[in-house]
Amino acid sequence: MLEERLKSVIRDIPDFPKPGIVFKDITPILKDQQLCGEIVDQLVNYLQGIEIDAIAGVESRGFLFGMLLANRLDVPFIPIRKQGKLPFNTISESYKLEYGQATIEVHEDALAPGSKVLIHDDLLATGGTVVAASKLLEKLGADIIGYAFIISLDFLQSEGRLTRFSDRIISLARFDA
Ligand code: PRP
Ligand code: MG
Repeated sequence: MLEERLKSVIRDIPDFPKPGIVFKDITPILKDQQLCGEIVDQLVNYLQGIEIDAIAGVESRGFLFGMLLANRLDVPFIPIRKQGKLPFNTISESYKLEYGQATIEVHEDALAPGSKVLIHDDLLATGGTVVAASKLLEKLGADIIGYAFIISLDFLQSEGRLTRFSDRIISLARFDA
């Protein structure tokens, strides 16, 4: 089962980047190109029959599979970046992280109003990142049609924060503790 294989390679790194945080390290997944392919296959499976105009991914770990998924679905990829990185006119949104504070930005011409956008990130923890991404994209007139994560920390019970945007929440590896 894909979920078990993902869980067997994802590494827990205690006290990174701050004391008390247990970091889920996905770099072992990236070393396994077959597993990477299966991740994209599985996400595509879950998304079958759903109309999607674009995939948005959040810098930096959301870029890894976001672009692969967009390419496989034959739709554009929208990069959401941390403050000060995008060169054209941007709009921004600030949010709290599991550790610290951040601001993310998107180009003001990233999508046409009414576009059906699926948001991808590697990990759902508090939900702060994807809630901010959702607000950002909605400011541009996007219709958020769902979320796709590799990992979700279900014990943090953050999915409720997303349902006001969309209740389609896909996660390949759910951690209950
Ligand atoms: C991590 C992770 C998610 C986010 C999840 O990103 O990649 O984007 O935190 O946390 P949340 O649900 O509590 O918002 P991080 O900001 O550490 O940056 P990175 O992707 O550049 O490593
Ligand atoms: Mg991230």
